[in-house]
Amino acid sequence: MQIVTIEAPAKINLTLDVKGKRSDGYHELETVMHQVDLFDRITLEFRSSGIEIASNSNSIPLGEENLAYKAALMILQEYQPGAGVNIFIEKNIPVGAGLAGGSTDAAAVLVGINHLYDCRFSRPQLLKMAAAIGSDVAFCLSGHYFEARPGELVSRGFTAIARGRGELLESLPSRMIPNIVIVKPEFELSTAQVYSELDLEAVEQFPDNGSFLQAWNKGDIINISVYMVNVLESVSIRKKPEIGIIKSRLIEMGALRALMSGSGPSVFAIFPDNETAFRAYQVFKKDYHEIYLLSSYKRGD
Ligand code: C5P
Repeated sequence: MQIVTIEAPAKINLTLDVKGKRSDGYHELETVMHQVDLFDRITLEFRSSGIEIASNSNSIPLGEENLAYKAALMILQEYQPGAGVNIFIEKNIPVGAGLAGGSTDAAAVLVGINHLYDCRFSRPQLLKMAAAIGSDVAFCLSGHYFEARPGELVSRGFTAIARGRGELLESLPSRMIPNIVIVKPEFELSTAQVYSELDLEAVEQFPDNGSFLQAWNKGDIINISVYMVNVLESVSIRKKPEIGIIKSRLIEMGALRALMSGSGPSVFAIFPDNETAFRAYQVFKKDYHEIYLLSSYKRGD
C-alpha cells in the first residue's frame, strides 16, 4: 500500500476539572472529551527517506514543531530509522483553538504510518507513543480502529473521561449530540500559559463529574448540559473577556449551555433544536469566520 487517507476529528471538553499541580509540572485532570464532526484529512504517502509536510493551510508549521512531524519521526524511528513519509494535512480545524487540532493530526499520523508500513505496533504501544507527543494525543488516537474488516482502518466517534495528564482514558458510551455550534474567536491562547495562570482557589465552579456521567449514561441532554463546567474558563475569560461575551450571547440565543473547550478560546454551545442552532449560527457568522454548526463525530457503523 502506497497511500493512506484518514479523517482526524476535533474534540470538545464537555467538562474539565483540575485536581492539582503535579511534581512533573503538569496538572492532574479529570475531563470528559468528545469528538465532533469537524475533521482534518491526513494523507500519508510512502517516501524512501525524510519527512515532508504540506498543507492547504498557511497557519500551521510544516517542520519539526508540528506534532504530526513529531509523531512521524517517533514511529518511524521505532520501526525503521531513516524511512520516510509525505504528509498532507488538509486543515479544517481551527488552529490554537482548544479543539485538539494538532493532537488529532499527530494521532492520525501514528495510526496511518502503522497501517502504511504495516508496522504492527499494538494499541498499547501506539498509545504510549501518543502520550509522549502530547496530553490529548492518546484520546485522539483511541477513536481509530483497525478491527472492522481485515486491513481496513475505521474511525468512530469517541468519548472518554481522561485523567492523569489527559492520557489515562476510560471510554464512555457513544452518544450523538446534534445542534452544536462552535465559535472560534480571532485570537489564540497558549495552553501552557493558561495552565500556568490557573489559581484553583479563585475557581468559582468545579464540575460534578459524577452527576455529569449519570446524565451521559442516560443520554439526558438537559442534564448533560447542566453539568458542563470547565475550570480553565476562570483564567481564559479573565485574559480574554470576549470568551465570556460569546458564551452569554449563545445563551441569549437559546443555547442549553455554552462552554469554553479545553484552554480555549473556542466556545461551543448545545442547542435544543436545529432551528435555534441555525439562527445562532447565522447571527454569529456575521462576526466570526471560524464558526461551525455540527454534531458529534460518527463513522464506521
Ligand atoms: O501535553 P501538551 O504539550 O499538549 O500540553 C501543553 C502544555 O499545557 C504543557 O506544557 C503544560 O504546560 C500544560 N498542561 C498541563 N497539564 C496537563 C496538560 C497540559 O499543565 N494535564
